[in-house]
Amino acid sequence: MIPTVHAPRVLIFDSGVGSLSIGAAIHQLIPQANLLYAMDHGGFPYGEWQESALVEHICQAVSALLQRHSADILVMACNSASTAVLPALRNSLSIPVVGVVPAIKPAAQRSRSKVIGLLATPGTIARAYTAQLIHDFASDCCIIPVGSRVLAPAIESLFWQESPIDAVLEQIKAELYSHPRAAEMDTVVLACTHFPLLQKPLAALMPNLEWIDSGEAIARRVLHVLNELNLPLNLNGSTAKREVVILGEEPATPILIQGLENMGLSLIDY
Ligand code: DGL
Repeated sequence: MIPTVHAPRVLIFDSGVGSLSIGAAIHQLIPQANLLYAMDHGGFPYGEWQESALVEHICQAVSALLQRHSADILVMACNSASTAVLPALRNSLSIPVVGVVPAIKPAAQRSRSKVIGLLATPGTIARAYTAQLIHDFASDCCIIPVGSRVLAPAIESLFWQESPIDAVLEQIKAELYSHPRAAEMDTVVLACTHFPLLQKPLAALMPNLEWIDSGEAIARRVLHVLNELNLPLNLNGSTAKREVVILGEEPATPILIQGLENMGLSLIDY
């Protein structure tokens, strides 16, 4: 009997709608891959968790999810999580894990002024992993760190309830520009996967800056890993599935469900 061949499935895991920005980049590069977007709404916001508790929570949540929905590769689509959990996840899973970490290296390569904003959650800003990235790739740069407690929650509320966001964006601008060298800043790293979802309004509010995130690099990495695994990508006529699963007790709002449908995604049961 000829075995049925399935297109590979990529699990894109985040605390919330940040999985959408990474998933969009993967879908753009690899439209044949099935994508399962996981939003751990019950655990949101990861940026406020204590590091060891977060590692334990994510390892448990990911393996429970994989028992229900299998996948060929995991993308940990969250900077706050990846900067803490990657070694533990790789130890505990049998599938490859691609981590999303702050795009400090490309930002340091691209910036001419060498004054770079780093917009992230408080957790990502505090991590030793992030300090090491800066040490390794941007030691000649002045980094302006903004660990925002409000931006990721505001984006989550925008997608779940259409809550207004303008005042929060103004607050981010004020925080970035309160640094003494802010006038020289030419590049900002969007080091939380929620933030690229609002790159357009951020860029409109703060023109003349280059905004850098990890989406495209992660998509290239996923393609590379799928090729290494020898998974069949050229399945003639097959339509890739893009599904969303929400972890936690709160049911998705009609606004969120509609927004996902508008992006071609469908919500499935946990
Ligand atoms: N999307 C997560 C990240 O990349 C942040 C949201 C959270 O705090 O849970 O850091």
